[in-house]
Amino acid sequence: MKKINFLFFVFLACLGFQVNAQQLRSPNGNFIMDFALTPNGEPSYELRYKGKSVINPSRLGLALKSDMNTTTTFNGPDSAAKKKQYESLFSGFEIAGTERTTFDETWQPVWGETKFVRNHYNELEITLIQKATDRNMKIRFRLFDDGLGFRYEFPQQKNLIYFTIQEEYSQFAMTGDHTAFWIPGDYDTQEYNYTTSKLSEIKGLMKSAYEEGNVSQTLFSPTGVQTSLMLKSKEGLYINLHEAACMDYPTMHLNFDGKNFTFQSWLTPDVHGDKGRLQAPCTSPWRTIIVSDDARDILASKMTYNLNEPNRIENTSWIKPTKYVGVWWEMITGKNTWSYTNDFPSVQLGKTDFTKSKPNGTHGATTSNVKKYIDFAAKHGFDGVLVEGWNIGWEDWFGHGKDYVFDFVTPYPDFNLKNLNEYAHSKGVKLIMHHETSGSVRNYERHIDTAFKLMKQYGYNAVKTGYVGQILPLGEHHYSQSTNNHYQFVIEKAARYQIMVNAHEAVRPTGIARTWPNMIGNESARGTEYQAFGGNALNHVTILPFTRLIGGPMDYTPGIFEMNLPNGAHLNSTLANQLALYVTMYSPLQMAADFPENYDRFPDAFQFIKDVGIDWDDSKYLEAEPGQYITVARKEKNTDKWFLGSVNGNDSRTSKIKFDFLDAGRTYLATIYADAPDANFKTKPQAYTVKKIKVTHKDNLAQFCAAAGGYAISIIPIEK
Ligand code: NOJ
Ligand code: CA
Repeated sequence: MKKINFLFFVFLACLGFQVNAQQLRSPNGNFIMDFALTPNGEPSYELRYKGKSVINPSRLGLALKSDMNTTTTFNGPDSAAKKKQYESLFSGFEIAGTERTTFDETWQPVWGETKFVRNHYNELEITLIQKATDRNMKIRFRLFDDGLGFRYEFPQQKNLIYFTIQEEYSQFAMTGDHTAFWIPGDYDTQEYNYTTSKLSEIKGLMKSAYEEGNVSQTLFSPTGVQTSLMLKSKEGLYINLHEAACMDYPTMHLNFDGKNFTFQSWLTPDVHGDKGRLQAPCTSPWRTIIVSDDARDILASKMTYNLNEPNRIENTSWIKPTKYVGVWWEMITGKNTWSYTNDFPSVQLGKTDFTKSKPNGTHGATTSNVKKYIDFAAKHGFDGVLVEGWNIGWEDWFGHGKDYVFDFVTPYPDFNLKNLNEYAHSKGVKLIMHHETSGSVRNYERHIDTAFKLMKQYGYNAVKTGYVGQILPLGEHHYSQSTNNHYQFVIEKAARYQIMVNAHEAVRPTGIARTWPNMIGNESARGTEYQAFGGNALNHVTILPFTRLIGGPMDYTPGIFEMNLPNGAHLNSTLANQLALYVTMYSPLQMAADFPENYDRFPDAFQFIKDVGIDWDDSKYLEAEPGQYITVARKEKNTDKWFLGSVNGNDSRTSKIKFDFLDAGRTYLATIYADAPDANFKTKPQAYTVKKIKVTHKDNLAQFCAAAGGYAISIIPIEK
């Protein structure tokens, strides 16, 4: 088949036909991408992997809004036809030129799963010309050994200057009724459990997949899903659809067309329903298709980072992977409150006087409580202490479209900003700042310089931001172009102040942390907090690395040892599973989220959280199947220590691994923290065993894992 295609092109070319079709191969030859123009001049592409079709012929292009074009006027009898022509950036094209290049570099991330990343691809740039409108557009394809990326490029030209996107028509035509791991397409939240179903079942299951309860939810289609979307074909091909480098552009969702198993891009609109306002020269984000017949390769893929620009921060010495504790879980579980007083039915900053109000007795961020956490962090070697609810305004913080909720600088009367920072620093610990914006991006931008200056004054080096509630100005969405630009504004502004950012409820990452490595955390999915708000599916953490983590690390906030929560909820996981998450959910920012007193009850298990690395020279995915299990071993940066985590899904199983990733000729002490045979996420989550054994690279392990369970191992060389 490969040969026939190639000979066919040669044959056409020899006859002097315009070569309307182009082929691109991946460096190792496993992938072949074919590009063609239909007789109507519509760009289309298809993708094969090891001879099998992955993407059937799928169209490419965009529809523009003609009435939004500021440079073209449509007069005269044929104005309607002209308008129509202008709206199309999806047909009437001819190929004006092609260029091919090969690229191969190895770069060193500031933090990451591996010390080096290889970025190796073959590239095809196609310049398309639309003669009827005298406009041109490029489509750039990069074919790696792990998949395909493509994007649209809009060069500077006289007939395409300012333009508004009506919709992007990037299609992904699947070859069958694959299994999908999906969450509902939503302009304002990603905090859903995953549904596993056939593609043809998405529509029927949308209602049950849509869980109410989040304070900002905007579903757009009964067949709309979010990226990163994980798929598995009947033949055992794993396919991941996402995007890379989403900058100055709305986030892409996918809408499924039941007839042809085809997904089509569906961009997040702005307040007017428009889907992106661009000014040439500019580009779209990359659309990505990662493919393998081995699920482990999807987890190990670095394609999303590779499609982002290199690091833009020159001096990165202040960017530090961070393990932290925090005054946080007590508010999430209802034990304490963010607010300081119950005196006011509503709050207006500048008018409400907190110094005269009566404390409610449940405020978490008190000087004495924070000191307790600082002492705990110092004793056990944590880098940071997050404190939420330290600043005035929490009595009335979302739900009213209120613009000015927080000023980000004024502490409650019982939180001594200066004293606590000095106390923390004297113990070698840093406080982590918290800026909840309540979705009021305008208000945050108004205060951001003052807020960051305050942080620098007291020696904070990291901020957790949050975007709970509807985005203000009202009508904008969490993932529309202007809100995406806000998140980017915060990252770049923070970089100037040498501040690391961990954004919650912000847009899902698309590998931008390669360019801006001060973005060390993001939530952008259903994290541990939902265990207190209605529960996470038993196999949730066996799916997240295949979906949400494709674009970057997640602040999942693991490490809960007491599953019966103060608010009466039960956390569905075993204690050993909680330990494994430090390794399976890769992040340079890891929290030990439970209360200090719960760690004091299980000192032998807590030892793993204290020991585990957070930055890595190498990562080896040993076992992986989305929705079922993930086992990964990672070598800590600049040490010879390995840490291994294995998380398990809905059914108990035996994990079988080899220690062949260890250095030959060395002996290691492996401490195995595992589910006891009677462990049960509901009735006996704290049934675990800690066993020490000697291992070499020749050894194997068969380890029992309970449902929603798993195991963790620290592997330390024994020096002779
Ligand atoms: C939601 C975040 O996910 C959570 O971590 C935070 O505590 C609250 N918002 C308050 O900002
Ligand atoms: Ca959240």
